[in-house]
Amino acid sequence: MRSLHDDIQKILLTKEEIADKVDELSERINRDYAGQQPMLIGVLKGSFVFMADLIRRINNYCTIDFMAVSSYGNQTITTGAVQIDKDLSHDIAGRDILIIEDILDSGVTLNYLKGYLTNRRPSSLRICTLLDKPERRKADIIADYSGFNIPDAFVVGYGLDYAERYRNLPYIGVLKPEIYSG
Ligand code: IMP
Ligand code: MG
Repeated sequence: MRSLHDDIQKILLTKEEIADKVDELSERINRDYAGQQPMLIGVLKGSFVFMADLIRRINNYCTIDFMAVSSYGNQTITTGAVQIDKDLSHDIAGRDILIIEDILDSGVTLNYLKGYLTNRRPSSLRICTLLDKPERRKADIIADYSGFNIPDAFVVGYGLDYAERYRNLPYIGVLKPEIYSG
């Protein structure tokens, strides 16, 4: 029987490689936030798998919240416009905020979010992204914690989607070209 795995041309990052990286990132976060109670803000929907794995390796007290933004629709190229679909449910004034993203691509989304959240006067604001495509950067933004630099290819899995599908793949892969054209 045909499964979603058959749509993948190439596995870029295995689940073991991802798990090792999540360990490494969480160790740094545990060190940097020792004695603090950070609030992790997940950018929906793509970050939910990464965030679920990451928070279970954080030893400090922490709280979580989510925001949903859209900038892509079903396309694989960015339109530049960022819209807030779901705002925070908690006040972040005076809090140590760590934004959790799946991927930093053009940087337009995170650049916008960073400005938006800074206006609410957190005591600190950092960015943690699992993936980074530095070649595609348009906004002047760098992540404080970054898992993997990847080449300029559209990737899916481990939370990342194409047209809302493939988020449930346990690895990160590149789709077969016929999936986009088909
Ligand atoms: P940016 O504003 O261009 O940095 O876009 C960031 C958002 O675009 C991410 O949170 C993803 O939702 C989406 N995105 C960018 N590249 C990819 C990709 O290769 N696969 C899936 N989603 C992507
Ligand atoms: Mg996203």
